[in-house]
Amino acid sequence: MKDQAYKLRQLIESFKENNNKVLDMAGSQVNKGARVITVTSGKGGVGKTNFTINLGIALSNAGHRVTIIDADLGLGNVDVVLGLVPKYTLANVIRNEVSISDIMVKGPKGINIISGGSGIKDMIHLSKDGISNLMKNFYLLNESADYLLIDTGAGLNNSVISFTEAADEVIFVITPEPTSITDSYAVIKNISCENKSIKIVINRVESNEEGYEVFNKINSATKKFLNVKLDNLGFIYEDSLVKKSVKEQKPFILNFPNSIASRGIDLIAYNIINNSNSIKTISSFERFVSNLFNVL
Ligand SMILES: Nc1ncnc2c1ncn2[C@@H]1O[C@H](COP(=O)(O)OP(=O)(O)OP(=O)(O)O)[C@@H](O)[C@H]1O
Ligand SMILES: [Mg+2]
Repeated sequence: MKDQAYKLRQLIESFKENNNKVLDMAGSQVNKGARVITVTSGKGGVGKTNFTINLGIALSNAGHRVTIIDADLGLGNVDVVLGLVPKYTLANVIRNEVSISDIMVKGPKGINIISGGSGIKDMIHLSKDGISNLMKNFYLLNESADYLLIDTGAGLNNSVISFTEAADEVIFVITPEPTSITDSYAVIKNISCENKSIKIVINRVESNEEGYEVFNKINSATKKFLNVKLDNLGFIYEDSLVKKSVKEQKPFILNFPNSIASRGIDLIAYNIINNSNSIKTISSFERFVSNLFNVL
């Protein structure tokens, strides 16, 4: 067991070394690396997938390169929301059948979508070859994106925990329903929050007052009982144009850019870009990959 862990660390180090060489060769063009943000929630159906896609488009509108990994095993995934049909998923990358660039599908505004498919489930039981295939492909992502957004399922299942544990930055999408707040608290309690920035987006609010009330409720509980301080990224209002856009399989930020929900997303994107707690460094992506494979 100890031997296996040692070999895994060696593998990680060798990929890091190769990756740094590529970066060095680029000279002044050195890419600072992708900022990795996992989007998750305690309870399902709170709006994670819609939030992730629309945030991705807002970041792209602001001039950033965005890749979204759909790491949700359930239905209602990124490709369903966008009406895209992916031919390959991460499962094919793990089996070394294709590379990660082959499975990227172009979404609106140039965002790239990667479908996890059954690959997300397979990640829990990867062979050494599978880990190696996945890692070298993940490093390619670092050069092609400024933001890597990971849309997960809800709750405390293994793959959600792996992505949540691995990323430096985690956004919890919460709605004002009491179960959404308590379920999010339970997940925050169960992940290690050391050196991690936990950000909160309150979705489907009726007013700013309601948003602040929900944020204060969860923030005071995590501060008091878990010694974890949360960042408030902003609120998205309940908006019938969101449902309308879901039915039309078009992101609401493109369909209705001046809607109240779109304005919420724009403000959140602005807050993320300017968030001084998470200055973009090359190590955000590196830590993510090392953490991910150590967790696995
Ligand atoms: N701000 C909003 N206003 C109105 N309706 C919304 C809003 N946000 C989300 N919804 C509704 O909630 C539904 C679920 O959203 P979404 O699929 O993004 O949730 P999810 O958290 O990804 O779900 P799952 O946990 O199943 O992956 C949407 O189809 C939409 O009808
Ligand atoms: Mg979803």
